[in-house]
Amino acid sequence: KLEAVIFDLDGVVTDTAHLHFIAWRDVAQEIGITIDPVFNEQLKGISRMASLQRILQHGGKAAHFSQAECEALCARKNNRYVATLSSLTPASILPGITDLLHDLRARGIRIGLASVSLNAPIILNALGITPLFDYCADASRIKHSKPDPEIFLLACRGLGVTAQHAIGIEDAQAGIQAINACGMAAVGIGDDLTGAGLLLPSTRELNWHRLDAYWQRLHS
Ligand code: BG6
Ligand code: MG
Repeated sequence: KLEAVIFDLDGVVTDTAHLHFIAWRDVAQEIGITIDPVFNEQLKGISRMASLQRILQHGGKAAHFSQAECEALCARKNNRYVATLSSLTPASILPGITDLLHDLRARGIRIGLASVSLNAPIILNALGITPLFDYCADASRIKHSKPDPEIFLLACRGLGVTAQHAIGIEDAQAGIQAINACGMAAVGIGDDLTGAGLLLPSTRELNWHRLDAYWQRLHS
């Protein structure tokens, strides 16, 4: 029986991926590194510090910055990013998500959030949907970003469900890997993701009917 649905945040509930990109692009520019949206795909689901490390590697500057300098660059990125979060309102929720959250609640299916973003609580508040989530995994409590399953397992534990009774929804390849690694059913949002049991081009196509049909197909 399906007991819970666990959502990724960035790129599934709202499109903050673009805001992350703008903030990183500007900080990278300041240290002479250029990043583009194609490269940005690699940063999805990856922690702040891990994102910086990938950017430095991409620019061939991995060894140029001390730990303290890296922390300062992360703080600079986060300040820029958090400043842009004030633009988020309930209208920033991606299509289909609000209806799905209400449909899940009406059916008694528990709702979780598995984002490695330390800003997740601020974002849910700005979107006005904090009360619709039964449990939000606290990113400060995990050691490994996606593709490690840690954040999804923490969400399952917080919801009181086993991974085998849950569906995870993700827009990043690392996130699909994390879902699969903990034995949950994986729903992918996007067009070039591998390993998702159900792949939908956008959240517009995401609804209770499709999730239910997917679950029935897996368990028949
Ligand atoms: C994830 C994003 O949700 O959160 C990543 O996909 C981001 O791109 C990560 O780096 C950490 O976010 P934050 O808000 O803690 O810097
Ligand atoms: Mg995402």
